[in-house]
Amino acid sequence: MEAPGSGWSVRPGSSLTSSVNCGLWPSFRGPLFTIPQHGIIIASFPARTAMANNTIDINQAAHPLDHLDSVWLFGYGSLIYKVDFPILERQPASIRGWERRFWQGSHDHRGTPEAPGRVVTLIESPGAICQGMAYRVSPNTFAHLDHREKNGYLRFFTPLTFPEGHHAEGLVYVAGPDNPAFLGPAPMADMAEQIARSHGPSGSNADYVLSLAEALEELGADDRHVYELAERVDELLKN
Ligand code: SIN
Repeated sequence: MEAPGSGWSVRPGSSLTSSVNCGLWPSFRGPLFTIPQHGIIIASFPARTAMANNTIDINQAAHPLDHLDSVWLFGYGSLIYKVDFPILERQPASIRGWERRFWQGSHDHRGTPEAPGRVVTLIESPGAICQGMAYRVSPNTFAHLDHREKNGYLRFFTPLTFPEGHHAEGLVYVAGPDNPAFLGPAPMADMAEQIARSHGPSGSNADYVLSLAEALEELGADDRHVYELAERVDELLKN
C-alpha cells in the first residue's frame, strides 16, 4: 500500500492505520527506501540537503503505540549506555541480520550541522547477530525517544532474542542509507579522525565511541568495527 502524495510505502501487516502526508519533503518523488527482510514501514527521503527536517512525524504516524501497555525497545548504540528515559525492565538481547556501523552523521548530538560527527546505525547483513540492550518501556516514552533519534532514524518492529532463548517483538531505530544525514563508509583512520575532533550538544563524539565500546565489552559483544574504532580514537586523543 502507498499513502498517496506522501512518498510512503507500507508492507502488508505493518501497523500504519491511516494515510498521512506529513508535509516533509513534499517535492521528493525518488525511489523508496526498503529494508527487504523485515516487513516494515518504508519511507523515502529527499536529497541530503534537507537537514532541517526530522523523522518524528513519520515515526509517530507509522507506529501509533497508545493501545499498548508496554513496548520493547532494542538499543544498539547510545541507547545502551545513555538511558535518559524511564524503563519498566531491561535485559540484554540480540537481533539477527544487522551489523553496527559508524556510518550515520550526527548534526544534533555529537557534532553540528557544519561539522557532523559519526554515530552508529545498522546495516543489513544476513546471518549477523547484533547484541544490545532491550528495555520494556511505556508507550509514551517514545515521545522522548523519537525526538532523541530524529536525525534520520526510523523505528520498526523486529524480533528480539533474549539470552534464555525466548523472543519478543521490539522497536529498533535504524537510519537507512538514503536518509539525509547518512555518511556511509570511510577508511577507519578517517572515521577515527572525524570522531576525535567532533563535538555537539550531547558531548564529544569520542565519548560516544568509547562509552559504546565499554558497554559492549560489558555485554560480552563481539564487534570488531566498534572496538577498532574506539582504539584508534583513544590513540588520537592521547597524541
Ligand atoms: C541506538 O542506540 O539504538 C540507536 C542509535 C543511537 O542513538 O546511538
